[in-house]
Amino acid sequence: DLKGFIFDLDGVITGTAKFHGQAWHQLADELGVTWTESLANGLKGVSRMDSLEMILKAGGKENDYTEAEKVAYATKKNDNYLKLISNMTPADVFPGVKEFLDDLLAKGYVISLASASKNAPTILKHIGLSDYFTKIVDPATLSKGKPDPEIYTRGAEILNLPPEACAGVEDAAAGVAAINGAHETSIGIGDANELSAADIIFSETSALTLANIEAQMAK
Ligand code: BG6
Ligand code: MG
Repeated sequence: DLKGFIFDLDGVITGTAKFHGQAWHQLADELGVTWTESLANGLKGVSRMDSLEMILKAGGKENDYTEAEKVAYATKKNDNYLKLISNMTPADVFPGVKEFLDDLLAKGYVISLASASKNAPTILKHIGLSDYFTKIVDPATLSKGKPDPEIYTRGAEILNLPPEACAGVEDAAAGVAAINGAHETSIGIGDANELSAADIIFSETSALTLANIEAQMAK
């Protein structure tokens, strides 16, 4: 039986996936790399430096820059991203998410955060959910990012639960792969084709309820 839920942040709890996409798109334009839907989807859930490498690779430019130049580009992207999130408020929590979290906690489930983003604590503050997530995997301490399972393995460890007792909630294919690799139940939020590897898929967060999850798991 499930005892814990491990949440991704960007694109699951709030709409920051869109802002990451915008900021990377702007950088890709500057680098002369063609922005495509498949590149955009492939970047979801992927760490900052890995994302930059994927963009450079998509443009055949992976050998064109020094490490210092890459860090400068990643910093520029993040500065743009920080501008995009600066006006976020609790009203930006996705529909049904707060209700789902309240229901989980009221029923004795435990929750943790497995976001690749170093900005996650800042965003939680903006949207008023810092008190809900006292257990956060620090992405700076990971040896590998999503799709590697490490972040979801750690998300269960900090809950003191075995992976089998945990479900992960993700909007990205890389994240679903990480959950599956950690042997946890994967719940995808978004497009069923993009997230076809997930055990359970909901198109929107408003469908994220224990009743709906139990109904899907019974199938
Ligand atoms: C993930 C996002 O949550 O965090 C990615 O889905 C992002 O788009 C990654 O690149 C790293 O975020 P940050 O804020 O540390 O650059
Ligand atoms: Mg995400």
